[in-house]
This record gives sequence, C-alpha cells and structure tokens, in this order.
Amino acid sequence: MAPRKIDLRGRDFISDLDFSVEEVEAVLDLAARLKKEYRSGKPHSKEFMLRDKTLALLFFFTSTRTRGSFEAGMAQLGGHAAFIDSDTTQIAHGDTAKEIGQIFGRYFNGIAIRQCDWGVGNRYINEVAQHSPVPVLNMQCDVYHPFQILADLMTLREHKGKDLRGKKIAVSWAYAASYQKPISVPQSLIIQLTRFGMDVVLAHPPEYKLMPEILQLAEENAKASGGSFTITHDMDEAFKDADAVYPKSWGALLTTTDPNESAEIGKRYKDWICDERRMRLAKPDAIYMHCLPADRGLEVTDAVIDGPQSVVYEQAENRLHVQKAVMVMTLGSYVHVLSSSKRAKRKAKPPARKTTRAR
Ligand code: CP
Repeated sequence: MAPRKIDLRGRDFISDLDFSVEEVEAVLDLAARLKKEYRSGKPHSKEFMLRDKTLALLFFFTSTRTRGSFEAGMAQLGGHAAFIDSDTTQIAHGDTAKEIGQIFGRYFNGIAIRQCDWGVGNRYINEVAQHSPVPVLNMQCDVYHPFQILADLMTLREHKGKDLRGKKIAVSWAYAASYQKPISVPQSLIIQLTRFGMDVVLAHPPEYKLMPEILQLAEENAKASGGSFTITHDMDEAFKDADAVYPKSWGALLTTTDPNESAEIGKRYKDWICDERRMRLAKPDAIYMHCLPADRGLEVTDAVIDGPQSVVYEQAENRLHVQKAVMVMTLGSYVHVLSSSKRAKRKAKPPARKTTRAR
C-alpha cells in the first residue's frame, strides 16, 4: 500500500469532526514528534518551522492554558502569535465578524478565536471563517473545545496505548460553584472519543443535558467505530471499571440560561464530587482527567487531583504539542505521510457493537 499524504494546509479547525480520524491520527503523530524534539532541548526541525508566520489570538473570554500554550508554541516554531483581548478592539463599536475575517485575514496567516457565549460563539467563529482567506482555529466556543480534546486524546494514548478500542472512559458532570462552565468540553469529548472505538459513558443529573445533535453524533460515531456510547444519571455507575474518568462541571444551559437558577439547580447535586471512594470504583490503573481550571473541594478532592492517578498536568502540557502540530499542518507547508502499516492496522477493526442509551 502506497504511503498516504495528509495535507491540512489552509484548513479550518472549528469542530472536532472537521478533521477525519486519519487526519487526527496524523496530528497526534506529529505532536508526539514535536514533543520529543522540544524535550530534547534542541530547536525544531526546519520542516516544521513557521518562520515569518503570524497568528491572531482573539479572546472574548479569559484563559490560562490556551493563551499560554498558543503563544509559547508559535514562538517555539519561529512565528509570532498576537494576543488580542476583544475588549481592547473596536468589536463592541461595530467591527463585524465579516470584517474580522477580511481584515485579520490580510494581516495574519491564521486567526484563532475563543468565543464561549451561549448561542453566539460557534456562529461567530464560523462567520469569521466564511470571510477569512486564512485558516480559522477554534480556541473554544459554546459548542466545542477541539484542541482540549486533541490534548486529551494524546494523553489517553500515552497512558492506555495508541489503540483505545474497548477502553472505558467516564465523562461525568461534577458540582462547582465558581461559574456556569461551558458545555463544550463534554460535547467535544463524546463526539471525538467515540470515533476511536472507546466505550464512552456520559453521566449527569437530568438537568445537565447536552445538545441532542451532539448526542446523536456520539451515537453514530460509536456505531461506526465499534465503540459504545451510554448515558446514565448515576456517577458511581459511570465510574465502575473505567480506564479513565473525566469528571467536570458544566452549566445547565439546556435547562435554563439564567445563571442564578442554574446555580440553584447545581446545589442539589453537591455529592457529585470525584473523591477517593469513587476512584476506587474505576480500574486500579484508571487515570483521572480534567481540562482545568477545577473547583477544588467541589468537583474533585485534593487527594485525587494531586494523587498518583491524576494526569492533569500532562493534559495541560499536551495542549502545547497538539496545537503546534495543527499550526504546522494548517499554517505551514508541512504535509504528513501516514505509514502503510498504520493504515492497515486501522482497517482491521472488530465488528461494531450495539450502541446503548440508558435514561
Ligand atoms: N483548559 C483550558 O482551555 O484552559 P484555559 O481556559 O485556561 O485556556
């Protein structure tokens, strides 16, 4: 079988599903190579460099990891990332999404945007992309957080092996009091991980539903990959025999958009915390995952997040490597070559299992 070229030059990355499974595997392969190079302390190979390339980082919402990793990553590749806080722009005075796409598309080689406002963010990013001559990258919207899930996949592969088929992950809601967190992380998790043959269990109290079209995609992806997708309202049930647990909070946005009402609903479920008792329900070698920031003492106990099963710092680090890989492949001239043995392995999958959805 001839080697296949994976060419992402000029492509947007807005939804997790904008890249095929094969394209995601190429990104993860390259990310692993970039991680190794970076850790060697030597500059990156010439073929990966983004010299003279610029990326706009337009933020409508706060960030620690996303901003830090995009800025550091672009500098390590020899390019420049410009941090732009939307509050310091003329957007509030009338600059439209079309104008941002048209104008930033003439200054920069790529436009990365974080816009998490409910019912607004994804539409805004897509509108910018429609008018932009350069790739648009989603740094998190109200629907998706695709770079976080690439980093999570990389972390899962490092701990559980590249073949994730049949591995169980519990994606669970957890209680938090800080703010109504977006639903983009659990939504991106369930649509991306089901493409890799994982047994994905989504757990949440009834009021913390995700978007029906996202659930539908997760079901379809599980069916196609031979994995499974199940929904439960019992956190303990989700954790049982899991290889990985990913308990995090999100807002009851499909039940109410009133933050006070949502906060009141949340108080009924304060026992949805990831503690040592719950970790013991999972497999002994299960990993604890969280995208951060976490509400310590509410979403998770210190003993768990600081304990031996926690991989949260690896997840945060891998943001750097996967984002560099996507920048190299979309903004640069690099084309990835997938080896034929890898393609042959991907084709040899077991028959699809039944997809269940418990209510
Ligand atoms: N996980 C994540 O996206 O972190 P930030 O919100 O700090 O960027």
